[in-house]
Amino acid sequence: MALFERRTLEAVGVDIGTSSVKVMELQRTRRGYRVNCAAVESLPRSAVVERGISNVEQVGAALRRAAKRARCKRKNAIVAIASSHVITRTFQLPEGIKTFEIEEQVMIDAAQNVPYSVDEMYLDYQVLASMKAGAEDSVTVTACRREVVDDYVSAVESAGLRPVVVDVDTFAIARAFPLVTATMSESLQGKAVALLDVGEVTTHLDVFVDGTVIYDRDHSFGGRSLTESIQSHCDISFEEAEAVKLSGKLSEDDQEQLLEPFKRTISQEAARALEYFASAGRGYDTVDLLFVTGGCLRLDGILELISNYTGVPTATANPFLGKNIKARTKLKLQPTLLLKACGLAMRGAG
Ligand SMILES: Nc1ncnc2c1ncn2[C@@H]1O[C@H](COP(=O)(O)OP(=O)(O)OP(=O)(O)O)[C@@H](O)[C@H]1O
Ligand SMILES: [Mg+2]
Repeated sequence: MALFERRTLEAVGVDIGTSSVKVMELQRTRRGYRVNCAAVESLPRSAVVERGISNVEQVGAALRRAAKRARCKRKNAIVAIASSHVITRTFQLPEGIKTFEIEEQVMIDAAQNVPYSVDEMYLDYQVLASMKAGAEDSVTVTACRREVVDDYVSAVESAGLRPVVVDVDTFAIARAFPLVTATMSESLQGKAVALLDVGEVTTHLDVFVDGTVIYDRDHSFGGRSLTESIQSHCDISFEEAEAVKLSGKLSEDDQEQLLEPFKRTISQEAARALEYFASAGRGYDTVDLLFVTGGCLRLDGILELISNYTGVPTATANPFLGKNIKARTKLKLQPTLLLKACGLAMRGAG
């Protein structure tokens, strides 16, 4: 199983989140991509815990339903593990190193710098040729514990799909991000552009400069906290509370007491995530632009609120709007769940 797949392949992108699985198939076209199909299918509450699969059968069953509902044609699948489970290291290769010696260097580096035994890990690497004459090439090594990867592979297999690549979610997001910024008329050259993903249990901030991720961090916050407050306030089950939340039919009282405070908390979390970035010593005091994604960003009025709290122009990260991708109107109007699946599907677009 390769973390870095080198061949062109046709595969469905599979994003296994905490609250749902998302699938998407893209086809490469002359102008870019066409979305063949996509679907989202919810997961039982503890099927995915701390970004790892705790119930392979439940995840496999949801994935099977998603692929069926989307009418996916492909059996090959590309899945992503969370960057929080992955150790990524980049180091310079010794001068004059032969190709067959690179793997040995990778193993030596991993044995010294990865906090687990090499036998417990899957390792893959990619050589990055130096742009400067005379400078050494570097190699990026990605390592993840075998048990984490094996659960993803088993879940995909139990859905009747064939896992051909295990990617890393940050790489998938970075792949899809140019589709998001393609619609910007102003130049973003040299600017710090943030992407905030507010999901079920995690809020994740990536900051890009010229398409490269210069910062990424997880914060423990997500939509589950609103579901839980609806659950205890209304004395109903978690599943019923989730259904009420998604229907948008909260009583006026619940809107006032639960929904509006939750929206303010999202906005405070966004501001806090940007403050962490500003103090991380990356040479930026703030970001120039903030894109948002994740299920929680479907709440009415949330963009304006986040922009007010952060002081940064804020927009939905919509990968389907530019002229390089052809998608149905329905997808264009509901983009916030599918960015990661889109980045994975791009890798399997043929
Ligand atoms: N229309 C909506 N209104 C309010 N909340 C919504 C809506 N749609 C989805 N959500 C919430 O968004 C969250 C799920 O978002 P998303 O699918 O991005 O998370 P995930 O990828 O499953 O989880 P994570 O990224 O934390 O692993 C849930 O809390 C869900 O209730
Ligand atoms: Mg997610």
